[in-house]
Amino acid sequence: MSTEHGPHGHGPAPGPPGTRRDRGVLRTKTIEQSLRDTEEPEHALRKSLSALDLTVFGVGVVIGTGIFVLTGKIAKEQAGPAVAISFVVAGVVCALAALCYAEFASTVPVAGSAYTFAYASLGELPAWIIGWDLILELALGCAVVSVGWSGYVRSLLDTGGLHLPPELSGSHGGRFGFDLLACVLVLVITGILVLGMKLSSRVTSVVVGVKVTVVLLVIIAGAFFVSGANYRPFIPPSRPSAGGGGLTAPLSQLMFGFTPSHFGLMGIFAAAAVVFFAFIGFDIVATAAEETRNPQRDVPRGILGSLAICTLLYVAVSVVVTGMEKYDTLSVDAPLADAFKHVGYPFFAGLISFGAAVGLTSVCMILLLGQSRVFFAMSRDGLLPQLFSRVHPKFGTPHRSTLVLGAVVAVVSGFTSIDVLAELVNIGTLFAFVVVAVGVVLLRRSRPDLPRAFRTPGVPYVPLLSVLASLWLMLNLPAETWIRFAIWMAAGVLLYAAYGRRHSRLAVRQRAHRPDPAAGRP
Ligand code: ALA
Repeated sequence: MSTEHGPHGHGPAPGPPGTRRDRGVLRTKTIEQSLRDTEEPEHALRKSLSALDLTVFGVGVVIGTGIFVLTGKIAKEQAGPAVAISFVVAGVVCALAALCYAEFASTVPVAGSAYTFAYASLGELPAWIIGWDLILELALGCAVVSVGWSGYVRSLLDTGGLHLPPELSGSHGGRFGFDLLACVLVLVITGILVLGMKLSSRVTSVVVGVKVTVVLLVIIAGAFFVSGANYRPFIPPSRPSAGGGGLTAPLSQLMFGFTPSHFGLMGIFAAAAVVFFAFIGFDIVATAAEETRNPQRDVPRGILGSLAICTLLYVAVSVVVTGMEKYDTLSVDAPLADAFKHVGYPFFAGLISFGAAVGLTSVCMILLLGQSRVFFAMSRDGLLPQLFSRVHPKFGTPHRSTLVLGAVVAVVSGFTSIDVLAELVNIGTLFAFVVVAVGVVLLRRSRPDLPRAFRTPGVPYVPLLSVLASLWLMLNLPAETWIRFAIWMAAGVLLYAAYGRRHSRLAVRQRAHRPDPAAGRP
């Protein structure tokens, strides 16, 4: 019996099973076909995760470099104590997107997140574009965080009198170096992921426990050292950027003819676009939908729960840290730890550095996990080589996809610098948010019949607000980030034209069902 439906769920749609319409590169894959694909034995992932596992996963990937490293840099250079407001702004943008992700994940509990959603609602080319875009968030994000981790570990080693040679400590201030620690971290994580989800989630639980304890320690212990004088001014007056900003100025300031500036009201939004990095990851919970026992109920809980916990912690941490030390003297590399040194408690500083080093490992691991699942889904659809969607018979994980990705990310992390690439990760993630929000509205129209365990409230207004909010943050990123983003996306479209378009399983099915023009000729 066919489960295919027309645009409103009535009657059969034209086209072969799995496609609703033969629309070339805009062909969409039905939800039913996506669900059927997950049941093929050679492509089936093990279903072992609960709502709690997902929330731990969410918190495990969300709390990381953003709060441990970027808070200090952004307070010092862009927002002052008002960085707490930037965290609220970024949190609101994420909450709007989270409501859209929750509906999609509860409707299409299939590996691949925004990629799978786009395939079901917008079509194959947009889906490919979003899959390609997710590499920025996940694989590049993993590389960036591994470099942040390596910085913390080196500082701990230095404290213990162990010094790595500069050639193996990464690139700094124009001097080239290979980041050995970052590279090794990614390789170890790859091994853990190949061994299986359950092991990964156990490791994650321990790491998340350490990390949350350290964050709570900063908030509770730090509160005793807060001085009201450090909050004055809470929003430092706007100051023109040195040298006019050029391509390093936020695109919004260049577009609307403002003089590029730091601090002030504009500074809060520019800062929000950067500290947004601290929230990246809650959407990754959706990539594990297929490995969840009760995805319709648990995925929305995992996404919204982890986002709420992290927002509260971030606002509290930034209020405390900017209250402990004047914003313009905060450290750029390890602001939370150094704030305790500043008030004369180096013991706490060591503890916090240790917690950060432990905590960042889970961020890297889950980002890499998310990337391997997106590749898995794209490969299962034929848009990437089949190698990425074979599941290991014993471990039940896409081992080849994980190994290949792990090797590439390990090399990239050896040569990555955090500053520039974090903004590229942000723009890629915000773009995915836009696509998912649009997809929710389109899928409500094209498939109103689908069971939705979680419904985004106020459709189409909430998704529309989500699109506008994400675009606004994107516009607050530097113009040079937009240029890099455009180059990356153009490369993706070329790759689709060269490989995915012809190898797509939907395209192959459509060709198989098309009447043979030669048949019937004399
Ligand atoms: N949100 C993650 C972090 O802050 C990516 O490191």
